[in-house]
Amino acid sequence: MKKRLKLKKQVKVILVCLVIFIIVLVFGIKKYKEYKYHQTNEYKLTLVGYSLEESKKIVDKLNDKNEEYLVKNKKNDYIIDLLDEKYFLEKNLDEYIKYKDKNKKKNLSDVVAIVNVHANYDWYDTDIVKPTDLSKNELILVNKFYYLDKSFSPEEITNISLSYAYANNSVSKVTNDAYINMATNAKKDGIQLLANSTYRTYERQEKVYKEYYDWYGEDYADKYAAHPGFSEHQTGLALDIFTYNSNMENFDQTEAFNWLMDNSYKYGFILRYPKGKEYLTGTNYESWHFRYIGEKDATKVHELGITFDEYYAYFIE
Ligand code: DAL
Ligand code: ZN
Repeated sequence: MKKRLKLKKQVKVILVCLVIFIIVLVFGIKKYKEYKYHQTNEYKLTLVGYSLEESKKIVDKLNDKNEEYLVKNKKNDYIIDLLDEKYFLEKNLDEYIKYKDKNKKKNLSDVVAIVNVHANYDWYDTDIVKPTDLSKNELILVNKFYYLDKSFSPEEITNISLSYAYANNSVSKVTNDAYINMATNAKKDGIQLLANSTYRTYERQEKVYKEYYDWYGEDYADKYAAHPGFSEHQTGLALDIFTYNSNMENFDQTEAFNWLMDNSYKYGFILRYPKGKEYLTGTNYESWHFRYIGEKDATKVHELGITFDEYYAYFIE
């Protein structure tokens, strides 16, 4: 009897100990989880002032380094909208923030576009310019920051038929095939296309730039002609297209221009320097300068309504 009572007591003690152990364990786990959560950037961001939802979004979209950058800085009022920008590139986060803070009135879409194409730097900034990636073939980018070596020349330079060009015009074979196809179909619609400045060697571009420079000065030259090595004409993928009785002043008032705007993408061409996008291309509006990039990409550029510089930064590079 005494033995049974002792056993009962022992069981009771064990049970009480077990309950205490479980309570301590559950509490300990809770505390540990809390401690661990407090180490996360999601939590630290809420301390900076972001809502839980905003913190979750930041953690979801950014890498550790960028999260930590936001943890260490004051609450940024536009970061959430920036993350939602269509062409947001995480690698550019620092630059977006620096540029936006210096240019408070600029909207975020412009900030993203400008930084993506490096237009937050001076044109031809020697710290930024680099040789373009030739492996991109007909998608290579040549602009005020991406250049071609002096020795670069396109493959299979082909003369353009005099039916669709002034004398002595040539482009790469793939561009010529696409151009002739386009010009032939334009003709069926009663439109005469005439290419009049196409492939240019480095040396030829040197002369073009120098002529503009000597006649009109540096500002004018920089607006209308690229520095040698920085001209798309050296790629063999670009054509200046006109029609009868048209020139740089009036080409965009011609039927040929309208036809090109509606149809050129179907043949792989895009208008390279659109009106109003000078701050991204670094080049004045040129209603006549078309660039071959292939049908698939030209269709996307056309549908998205962006410049090739923006397209390259987001989809190709
Ligand atoms: N006119 C264009 C910008 C060029 O010189 O390549
Ligand atoms: Zn041109």
